[in-house]
Amino acid sequence: MHRLRALAMQQGWIYETIVSTYCGGEPHAAPIGVRAEGLDTLRMEIFDSSQTLTGILDTGLFTVGFPSDVTMFHAALFTPGLLVFEEARSVSAPVVVGCVATVELALREAIPAPPRVRISGEVVRAEVQVESPANLRLFNRAEGLLVESLILATRLQYLDEETVRRSLEENRRVIRKVAPGSIWETKMADLMGHIGGAVIAPPPQP
Ligand SMILES: Cc1cc2nc3c(=O)[nH]c(=O)nc-3n(C[C@H](O)[C@H](O)[C@H](O)COP(=O)(O)O)c2cc1C
Repeated sequence: MHRLRALAMQQGWIYETIVSTYCGGEPHAAPIGVRAEGLDTLRMEIFDSSQTLTGILDTGLFTVGFPSDVTMFHAALFTPGLLVFEEARSVSAPVVVGCVATVELALREAIPAPPRVRISGEVVRAEVQVESPANLRLFNRAEGLLVESLILATRLQYLDEETVRRSLEENRRVIRKVAPGSIWETKMADLMGHIGGAVIAPPPQP
């Protein structure tokens, strides 16, 4: 029980990971955002066209790898031949080599929510592969989005203002979604306060 404790995931935050499963008997991996619910459950939403989803539904077993490097997301999408797999320790599923932490899961629930399916997995095993907790860095989009937003805010007078404000609103939306209650959410709200002005609404529907 409480197998996720060593990963120190914030509840409700979405972390970018590589989900791996057998698809037609072959190891397969794709980048997917996951969040912890308690210390024994990971949840994710996967588009219903995804091969990864098919593999999870067919086998009922999968792994979640927390990459050491963002280029692993690129490899999973565009050069999958560069990924190295090994067999998971406690479930029959592949693990991507080179992650800072790996979680092995058994499918608990798959709820259709078109065009996605909400997947819930029960943690069978969780392993941290780095010795120092300082190296256990899990990817969350909010930090990068705050940096981008700060840069954009300094360009407000020089670029098309409406375009910049729309991008900032979108960044604020995503930060709230992926890291609720974080320092990045607080600083993003502060940034929006500093630049003032109207919230840009979506264009009127015809
Ligand atoms: C960082 C990152 C996070 C992603 N998160 C998700 C996600 O949560 N759900 C999803 O369905 N697709 C997500 N995607 C897109 C899938 O990885 C992409 O559609 C992939 O091609 C699916 O591959 P598959 O058909 O081989 O499973 C994400 C992509 C990236 C780069």
